[in-house]
Amino acid sequence: MTPTEPDALVVQLSAAGFVAAEDEAQELRTCAAIKGEPLDALVERRLSGEPLAWITGQTLFCGLEIRIDRGVYVPRWQSEPLARRAVERLPTTGMGIDLCSGSGAIARMMATSRPGARVVASEIDEVAVACAAGNGIEVYRGDLFSPLPRTITGLVDVVVGVVPYVPTTALPMLSRDTFEFESELAYDGGPDGCGVLRRVAAESPGFLRLGGALLLELGGDQAEALTDDLSRSGFGDVTVLEDEEGDVRGIEATLEARK
Ligand SMILES: C[S@@+](CC[C@H](N)C(=O)[O-])C[C@H]1O[C@@H](n2cnc3c(N)ncnc32)[C@H](O)[C@@H]1O
Repeated sequence: MTPTEPDALVVQLSAAGFVAAEDEAQELRTCAAIKGEPLDALVERRLSGEPLAWITGQTLFCGLEIRIDRGVYVPRWQSEPLARRAVERLPTTGMGIDLCSGSGAIARMMATSRPGARVVASEIDEVAVACAAGNGIEVYRGDLFSPLPRTITGLVDVVVGVVPYVPTTALPMLSRDTFEFESELAYDGGPDGCGVLRRVAAESPGFLRLGGALLLELGGDQAEALTDDLSRSGFGDVTVLEDEEGDVRGIEATLEARK
């Protein structure tokens, strides 16, 4: 190929609607070379809409290389500010919990940034648990706080979670690839999307120390919907986290009282 000749794979990926076609072409080629698999087969999987991270087995999150096994939710760049905020609220020798950790990307970001801290994670899906363990996370399998060691109750500085928060009725509006490849378990937050968020607001004071932080990803009017729950659970200093476009992306609250 001369420098002026178009790269056929980039053209193919662009035509299929992949906006980062050049980067994807390079990643697919590298993956084919490393795994010794035919490039055509990898491209075919990608063209079917399978997440790139499932094909290459990894993704970048906050600049960290995270292992992603097939079937495991791929962490989104939109969650990176929440992970960075979790690090800011985690003292150097503190204790953090990453709820619904998926691959453990957020836990990994916290543990890497605060090597003297203890970070634990919980996740219900066994494939994701194995993936998080492969990413070096102290991960426990089960529902929200239930599998976590009781020895850390009342000692935790930060509880962070990208939990399922999509309203059930909105699930069909997720992109075709999401709907086809990923599990509803990662997204379904019940009728108003706040089902898991409310449970986390109610259960996290059992693990947090006074002054500890709760950081949750959410969207739309869910921050407003959660305000009373947070206040009932003893949280104050509630901040709605917005992105550069002014869209609601999360909520941060501090445990001020035991109720
Ligand atoms: C939206 S994904 C987020 C994963 C990860 N935090 C990230 O940002 O990459 C939600 C994850 O929650 C897990 N999950 C769903 N319900 C759960 C529950 N009740 N307890 C623990 N994990 C749960 C799903 O299996 C999925 O991996």
